[in-house]
Amino acid sequence: MRLAPALVAFFLLAAPGAGPATAADVPGDPARGRGLFADKGCARCHHPRGQPGLGPALEELRRPQGALELAGRLWNHAPAMFALLKQEEREWPRISAQEMADLMAYLQGNPARDPVPDLSQGQVLLVRKGCLKCHQLRGEGGTVGIDLTKYHGRYASPIAWATTIWNHSPQMAAHSARLGLLYPRFSGEEMGNLVGFLRAATQASPQ
Ligand code: HEC
Ligand code: HEC
Repeated sequence: MRLAPALVAFFLLAAPGAGPATAADVPGDPARGRGLFADKGCARCHHPRGQPGLGPALEELRRPQGALELAGRLWNHAPAMFALLKQEEREWPRISAQEMADLMAYLQGNPARDPVPDLSQGQVLLVRKGCLKCHQLRGEGGTVGIDLTKYHGRYASPIAWATTIWNHSPQMAAHSARLGLLYPRFSGEEMGNLVGFLRAATQASPQ
């Protein structure tokens, strides 16, 4: 089958990892984010300070912070929220890239507040956080999860990364429990350093 040149160009542009043009440029809207915080059920567990809730107070979530720092906090979220939702027999809420952009804008996660990543720290973290127990990078590591080299589009923007994390972390937490591994937690600049390293490592060896 022959494809029209325009269609071929479309496929090339739309190919995963074709560049940071994917979710990086989706501007978030804080007002829409506030609505999503209610619609996705976040507000059920995260109440304003002073009102008891199942999760930390809204003010602890919503404060000026780096976008990748916030992604790290969303990563930490998986085991506790997964367990609570299971008790309630509710589904894990899926979040699209646009919705994540809006939620991040509402929660005041701003890429400009993430420090320049320390790539050697990022490389250390990939091992220390146990990612290679399940994933491969450039042929090294485990095979429970996908090869991290193949997904460089996901490292291109904090929003793409946070969306990926949000939608996959419940399975990762479940696998960790099954394999008897401790689900890793991230703090401060750690997630930024890790993603910075993954971005650099996968750019150096495109698939
Ligand atoms: C079923 C209850 C529940 C729901 C629904 C829920 N959370 Fe949480 N959330 C928690 C709990 C419990 C924690 C503490 C997790 C931990 O530290 O292990 C938490 C922690 C967090 C944190 C990290 C706070 C920190 O300590 O740094 C963020 C950010 C967050 N939630 C955002 C959200 C967003 C966004 C949504 C909606 C898409 C959401 N949560 C929905 C229960 C919930
Ligand atoms: C206990 C095993 C395990 C550990 C540890 C683990 N992962 Fe995963 N990971 C998985 C599995 C299984 C999936 C596929 C989940 C799914 O299909 O939803 C996955 C999915 C992913 C994805 C999404 C891939 C996609 O299809 O979009 C990314 C990115 C990822 N992991 C990164 C990491 C990073 C970074 C670390 C270390 C901080 C890590 N993982 C630690 C098992 C693990």
